Amino acid sequence: MKKALIIGGSNGLGLAIGKCLVEKGYFLEICDVCAPEEGVLDEQSFHYSSCDLLDLDEELFRSFANDRDIEVLMLTAGIGRIADFQYHHTAEIEKMFRINTLSTIKIFRIFYDRIMSKDIFYAGVIGSISGWMSTPSAAVYAATKAGVIRFVESVNIELEACGFKNRIIDVSPASFKGSKFYGGKNDLSLTEPLAKEVLEHLFDRDTRFIPQYEETFKAVLERYHADPHEYGLHSFEYKQQSGRKDNCKRVKIGYLSGTFDLFHVGHLNLLRRAKKQCDYLIVGVHDSGKWKGKETFIPLEERKAIVAACKYVDKVVDSCREDSDAWALWHYDRLFVGSDYKGTERFNRYEEYFKDKGVEIIYFPYTQSTSSTQIRKAVIMKTKDINAEEK
Ligand SMILES: NC(=O)c1ccc[n+]([C@@H]2O[C@H](COP(=O)([O-])OP(=O)(O)OC[C@H]3O[C@@H](n4cnc5c(N)ncnc54)[C@H](OP(=O)(O)O)[C@@H]3O)[C@@H](O)[C@H]2O)c1
Repeated sequence: MKKALIIGGSNGLGLAIGKCLVEKGYFLEICDVCAPEEGVLDEQSFHYSSCDLLDLDEELFRSFANDRDIEVLMLTAGIGRIADFQYHHTAEIEKMFRINTLSTIKIFRIFYDRIMSKDIFYAGVIGSISGWMSTPSAAVYAATKAGVIRFVESVNIELEACGFKNRIIDVSPASFKGSKFYGGKNDLSLTEPLAKEVLEHLFDRDTRFIPQYEETFKAVLERYHADPHEYGLHSFEYKQQSGRKDNCKRVKIGYLSGTFDLFHVGHLNLLRRAKKQCDYLIVGVHDSGKWKGKETFIPLEERKAIVAACKYVDKVVDSCREDSDAWALWHYDRLFVGSDYKGTERFNRYEEYFKDKGVEIIYFPYTQSTSSTQIRKAVIMKTKDINAEEK
């Protein structure tokens, strides 16, 4: 059975491409953060795998690359917005590059043996016209797409020079409707015509497809190349007038505090779950050396270094006496805490304090691992022995 893998195929252009591929007799493997909208695709025509390009599961894609029935790979997942650079938090910059560029290029690397094979393999990615020119007010997005476009252009030369027949196509549209990209809804009547064109170019093994090139974008690109500075100023002014700018903060900053003594898997799970619910996770580590009446085993600086080395943590700080004091410093949007704190005097106070500040308190079940409890007991016993010997 012929199969096609679409990453980002649950919505927008990816969903429309998937539908057209089903009509051509393909079975779909769809990878996305959420499953495709119900009722759009026949249940028998696809299989869905949950995947988040922010935390790339390389093994999942290796298993797809080893599936010889898959002969189409389309990467359509992408995020972006029209906003001036100063409204992008560093976490948003990282997120955009990770999805649009880094994970995308890594997936092509995982499939590269298939692309370099003598067997037919069709591969493509949705770039953007913004990657072909300066794009003020979408500078980060344009940079992520320019990265992919240059990558595709360069690799296709390597493939050609080495005598391989397969290519990767870069599809670089301008703004289109019928997707969720700008917060809209899926409307296949608007995306299907574009999807059909994309597939024609993919199956022709073209390397580049800019929709409406002859009618519009040939002249636009010529104007840009003739005078990039003048073109850029005009483009900035146009967006300013259009009212499409989304000049606001778009990241969710999360905060949690703890002692993180004898770091264990319960701590790790807590940090992983918290990071899944925010874009930028700040962790406050308690100083005192005493915690719930117990001495900490590990000095503060070492505990901070261990927490900082965890990939889910973006920033480690000294905690404040109250998490509400930490809000004055970090202006977080979400406060994470173990569910046993729910209803306590302290957290009732926080609920009241944060009511008008747009901060959500998220209570997690927190389980200390059995092994960590045993390690803690063993360390306590050992410390007692050492102290007794020293006396
Ligand atoms: N729409 C335009 O005007 C336009 C113009 C030029 C280029 N493009 C490019 O065209 C491509 C398709 O866009 P579209 O308009 O069809 O957008 P869309 O409707 O938002 O579809 C993109 C899909 O990617 C998924 N996705 C987002 N983040 C992901 C992640 N971390 N891991 C896995 N999947 C993720 C989205 O899931 P969620 O919805 O659950 O987040 C969504 O299902 C994008 O690469 C975009 O940059 C769009």
